[in-house]
Amino acid sequence: MIYLIAGRKGGSGKSTVTMNLGVALAHDKQDVIIVDADKQSSSSTWVLERSRYQKDLPKIHCVAKYDDISDSLEDLDSRYGCVLVDPAGRDSEEMRSAMTVAHVLIVPLRPSQLDLDTVPELMKIIKDSKRINPRLKVLSVLSICPTNPIINEISDAKEYLSEFPEINLLDSIICDRKIYRDCVSDGLGVLESKTSSESAKKAKQEIVNFKNEVMSYGH
Ligand SMILES: Nc1ncnc2c1ncn2[C@@H]1O[C@H](COP(=O)(O)OP(=O)(O)O)[C@@H](O)[C@H]1O
Ligand SMILES: [Mg+2]
Repeated sequence: MIYLIAGRKGGSGKSTVTMNLGVALAHDKQDVIIVDADKQSSSSTWVLERSRYQKDLPKIHCVAKYDDISDSLEDLDSRYGCVLVDPAGRDSEEMRSAMTVAHVLIVPLRPSQLDLDTVPELMKIIKDSKRINPRLKVLSVLSICPTNPIINEISDAKEYLSEFPEINLLDSIICDRKIYRDCVSDGLGVLESKTSSESAKKAKQEIVNFKNEVMSYGH
């Protein structure tokens, strides 16, 4: 199964979502490979850190691929249970070529207007890809959401996204929590954090819910 975690905006949490989904799947005994298709190399750096310092944890593989990556993805799909693709946060050849072979596209979006404004243009790219790859399922997850309940950006974003029936907006959301950043620098997913704070518990629940919801679309 090929999961593409993409969008037209940098900093929306794509690499963080990729790493945490990878960890959740690896703990479910899935054979996971991340394809880092972004020259910023966030996920390659994280996998390197993980393989150096977290030797006892489930292994996550990683390769870097650029330009037209569709053939590589199909080949990896025949060898691994889960192929997670992490391209750059802009319209790129990597993103477009991956869309032609992916089974599931996950679009992390921050619940802010600047991020949501990228959705109509992204929809055009998705529609083009679906002509070649009609089975592509399109999911979106609100990410880096404010934890302050007074801020109603989340409900505003949900309302805005409901105007795009082609996008399945997940019920699970991922909040803005320091634990996500701390784990990345240690080569961990939040599910592997030893921290027992309330925020860590909530982050773990967010990732479990997110993974379960994604899996329910993957079959
Ligand atoms: N849920 C989150 N909570 C807190 N910080 C986050 C969260 N997701 C991402 N970040 C931070 O936001 C920045 C951008 O995230 P990243 O995953 O690199 O986004 P992208 O791959 O879309 O550019 C990074 O510094 C990352 O650590
Ligand atoms: Mg990234």
